Amino acid sequence: MIILVRIYYNRMSKTIPGKRVLWHLYDTGGMDCRAYRLIQEIITRNGGLFLRNVLCVFFLVSQRLIDYLAYMSEQSATVKKGIYRYFGEYNVKDMAAMIRNNKKSPEICETPFKGKFVIITGATSGIGYHTAHKYGSMGAELLLINRNREKSEKLCQNLKDAYSIKCNYLLTDFSDLNQVRDLAETILKLNRKIDVLIHNAGVYFNRRVETAQGLETVFAVNHLSSFLLNELLLPLFKKQKSGRIIMVNSEGHRFAMWGLRTDDLNWKKRHYSGLGSYGSAKLAQLLTMKVFAEQLEGSGVTINAMHPGAVKTESGKENDEFYKWYKEKIIERKFRSAGLSSEALYYLGASEEISLVNGKFFNLTTIETPAPPALDKAAADEIFEISREMVHFTRSNKKMEAEETVHP
Ligand SMILES: NC(=O)c1ccc[n+]([C@@H]2O[C@H](COP(=O)([O-])OP(=O)(O)OC[C@H]3O[C@@H](n4cnc5c(N)ncnc54)[C@H](OP(=O)(O)O)[C@@H]3O)[C@@H](O)[C@H]2O)c1
Repeated sequence: MIILVRIYYNRMSKTIPGKRVLWHLYDTGGMDCRAYRLIQEIITRNGGLFLRNVLCVFFLVSQRLIDYLAYMSEQSATVKKGIYRYFGEYNVKDMAAMIRNNKKSPEICETPFKGKFVIITGATSGIGYHTAHKYGSMGAELLLINRNREKSEKLCQNLKDAYSIKCNYLLTDFSDLNQVRDLAETILKLNRKIDVLIHNAGVYFNRRVETAQGLETVFAVNHLSSFLLNELLLPLFKKQKSGRIIMVNSEGHRFAMWGLRTDDLNWKKRHYSGLGSYGSAKLAQLLTMKVFAEQLEGSGVTINAMHPGAVKTESGKENDEFYKWYKEKIIERKFRSAGLSSEALYYLGASEEISLVNGKFFNLTTIETPAPPALDKAAADEIFEISREMVHFTRSNKKMEAEETVHP
């Protein structure tokens, strides 16, 4: 038993960086140590397996405590604050509700959408693709925002042929915030009322990838781009006095269990984690959605976020072969069809029953309490301001470049 604990502990000590002072006392590697010799002496003098075992267990427990303290001291102040702040707010009732909701099917809305104008981002595959088909089948006019011309062309043609609707597309790479800015300008110039705007485009990387502007890509695509687009289109939405904005978020926001590390949103100071960065981006999106909802309160326009279910899509296709194999064979084994997400997104965009619901998180079509960090008002205001600074950084960059050209 002690040997097993030792092996386990040795491995733990390697994975958790910390001061292994007591471990070295116990470990034969630390034989020269005075304290170790003293212990040896006590054991020899008093003999007995029992005493040896008691001492071993004592050292192991102490070591565990020291390692934990060292680990905690290495964590950023933000995470430590998060643990103290949110630990007590996690409760079994909310977790049980989430598990129940994950098994539910969405409400179905059968109201047609003819004459309505709908914008969907990332419609070339997965959830976005099915959602475009769903809105198209109900008669909506579509504007799809994608990064791939060939796929967009084919999709729009299919939608027109299948449902005799108007369908157009604009090309935007959401990892480039300057392109998002241009996209907003183009949409504003259309001078059209937007009935539903669905922010769906998203990525999952298991390694850190930088955007052209030096931002971490998952954070830029999953959060900053939709944030910037909302910010730039908000005056239009407020003016039109009705309309719905839907953020395709995720239960994955729960991966950022202790809140956002606002000192390292760009993942430069710590080991990159795919789940961690995805969770942070989704949590940031959820928090800022709340602030947008406050700004839109009473305007007739609503903004909500939703988890589209765990569904089979092309998400993660940019990752390595092992990840893709693991996703297909293990992760997605119990995943459902993305058609389910599109039904939910249609309900959230078209159903009269929720026309006044604003600032909520839905699991498909059920309102759900998100993780405690997503309910933190102060954190929401903070990340809203930080996001503003981050997206304007690219504008000032552009401006600076222009100014430098004019006044060399
Ligand atoms: N699948 C799930 O179980 C699940 C669960 C929770 C949340 N979600 C969320 O659902 C949304 C849709 O994901 P999905 O699962 O349907 O994945 P998907 O099949 O990979 O679709 C992602 C869409 O986003 C587009 N996209 C990715 N990066 C882009 C960029 N830089 N610029 C422009 N478009 C970009 C993709 O375009 P290309 O075709 O050009 O790659 C594609 O159209 C994401 O926000 C995701 O986080 C999914």
